[in-house]
Amino acid sequence: MKVIDLRSDTVTQPTPAMREAMYQAEVGDDVYGEDPTINRLEAMAAERLGKEAALFVVSGTMGNLVALLTHCGRGDEVILGDRCHTFLFEQGGMAALGGITPWPIPNQPDGTLRLEDIEGAVREENVHFPCTRLVCLENTHNMCNGTPLTAEYTAQAARLAHAHGLRVHLDGARIFNAAAALRVDARELVREVDSVMFCLSKGLCAPVGSLLCGSADFVAEARRARKVVGGGMRQAGILAAAGIVALEQITGRLAEDHARAKRLAEGLAQIPGVEVAPVTTNILYFWLTEEISKTPEEVEDALAERGVLVLGRELGRFRAVTHYWISDEDIKRAIEVMREVV
Ligand SMILES: Cc1ncc(COP(=O)(O)O)c(C=O)c1O
Repeated sequence: MKVIDLRSDTVTQPTPAMREAMYQAEVGDDVYGEDPTINRLEAMAAERLGKEAALFVVSGTMGNLVALLTHCGRGDEVILGDRCHTFLFEQGGMAALGGITPWPIPNQPDGTLRLEDIEGAVREENVHFPCTRLVCLENTHNMCNGTPLTAEYTAQAARLAHAHGLRVHLDGARIFNAAAALRVDARELVREVDSVMFCLSKGLCAPVGSLLCGSADFVAEARRARKVVGGGMRQAGILAAAGIVALEQITGRLAEDHARAKRLAEGLAQIPGVEVAPVTTNILYFWLTEEISKTPEEVEDALAERGVLVLGRELGRFRAVTHYWISDEDIKRAIEVMREVV
């Protein structure tokens, strides 16, 4: 039985072209700046996002942490959404390791932060207060139905932050999904932010790695922050090689995943007792209405027994994420199995 793994796009295996590129990769000591494959990936990433430079890091979590450590000093404060990944799922690394305090403000259902809420959270000069240094946004917004933030919204938020002397970091783990959904160049979505992190190891299928992009000065400082958190790698061009294939071959096909997520949503919505949130990218949330006697845990287990894996989340919501290894056939099968179970 083929397992249809819809828990996350992080479960994606590298493609055959990636494995071949990894095998063939030319490598060197990257801490000395001598890994030609990493240098090439970093140059490609910077170019693809319209920034001066980029830094290869182990994970999205490390990319966000390194960005925050670079933008902020100890005691500084960051304004960010209360549903964002950096606040919810990164162990409070900014505080634990950087002495940086988060000020969470409400994420709206579409993943945005209201401009007036951002403005209201900016600290004035006062000896009692920490200094506000940074605003963080997330695009696409994982916990807000995978919704993409538009270029216009991001630019507005960034201009507001800049007017208050703040910097802006974007967690763009799935920025190429946002670009595909909005049919814009990814550069447009990040034009006014000071730094952006995107992941190679989610919908882009690479086994490991993220890129942190920004100005040349920012990236030079970020390189120091990466080293202090133990992220200086050596012959990691083996990993970067897969990332190059991801940028060359995978970013252009993400709309297929979005179309499949939409089809899955339509199929699930037709099952009595299943409610589905609006879908715009590859992330789909659904839940059961009260007419269903099974608990969410029972449904999750029953789906798993039949080879369909979804992620159970808080308040009885389930998450299903489409990706490279999910076919049209898998979507049909997942809908059938859900109907059977519910
Ligand atoms: C929006 C977002 N940011 C950051 C991350 C962290 O990435 P990683 O798992 O590579 O640390 C994730 C992971 O799911 C994510 O969804």
